[in-house]
Amino acid sequence: MFSGVSNFVEGVDTAFVVILGISLFFLVAVTATMIYFVMKYSRKKNPKAGDVKDNTKLEILWTVIPTLLVLGMFYYGWAGYRPMKQIPDGAFPIKVTGKMWSWTFEYENGKWDSLLVVPKNKPIKLDMNSPDVVHSLYIPAFRIKEDLVPGVPTQMWFEANEEGEYDILCAEYCGERHSYMLSKVVVLSQEEFDKWYNSESDVDRSVHPGLDIMRKNGCMSCHSTDGSKLVGPTFKGLLGSDKEVKAGDDIKLIKADAEYINRSITAPNKEVVVGFNSVMPAYDESRISKEDKEKIIEYLKEIK
Ligand code: CUA
Repeated sequence: MFSGVSNFVEGVDTAFVVILGISLFFLVAVTATMIYFVMKYSRKKNPKAGDVKDNTKLEILWTVIPTLLVLGMFYYGWAGYRPMKQIPDGAFPIKVTGKMWSWTFEYENGKWDSLLVVPKNKPIKLDMNSPDVVHSLYIPAFRIKEDLVPGVPTQMWFEANEEGEYDILCAEYCGERHSYMLSKVVVLSQEEFDKWYNSESDVDRSVHPGLDIMRKNGCMSCHSTDGSKLVGPTFKGLLGSDKEVKAGDDIKLIKADAEYINRSITAPNKEVVVGFNSVMPAYDESRISKEDKEKIIEYLKEIK
């Protein structure tokens, strides 16, 4: 009845339509019966109220029919849900980290990205973790969603059946920038995927390499480039500007030079610009290398 972009669309949509259909039928039936009774048993026609005797047949009927209907709904729900918990052996594993407020996807060969890149028609297993609070990885087009709970590894799997890009959302309120904790699944053909998987660089050539690195690391969920104030200070005009920072209990005036930017990446909460909170995770060399930092500085020079 349904075909879809993932192997779970059919099961979930069938359950949805079955429940919606039953609900619609009863909405119409109950409303019509109500209106009919209001007219038939109106006081004008029946000035004297009479007693209603119990009716065993009717009682059996209105117990058995709803039970069957609810069991039917349960069946379709269960049939759609069960395969989600049966991860096939040999599914392609990808490590997912959801933290305030970005997603990171890591592959077995060490490759990682802020986008979830997967091959078509292949079971994908997501091993999910959160270092801070509860998040929830939600891919509406694939009809799947699973929580990421700090300290409790969770798993989810799917098979994408159509090439394209699909939205990823965080479906569990996780703080100020929850609604910006977004990403995409990119479904490629096996050949294209292999090319991407085995390539050294994944820099998006259409944007400045410094911006690309920051996007990949989720920096842009908290810092703007147009001067607007988000969770962190804007990058626009940052480089070379004078900033009041809170270092421990002291407030001091510093120049936001390349050195300060570098320190803010590796130890972000040591010198926090006044007016902002210490919420940024630290990025060590394995995440943002020395060369990457230089590219970021180059980019910041451009948006002075
Ligand atoms: Cu992460 Cu909401």
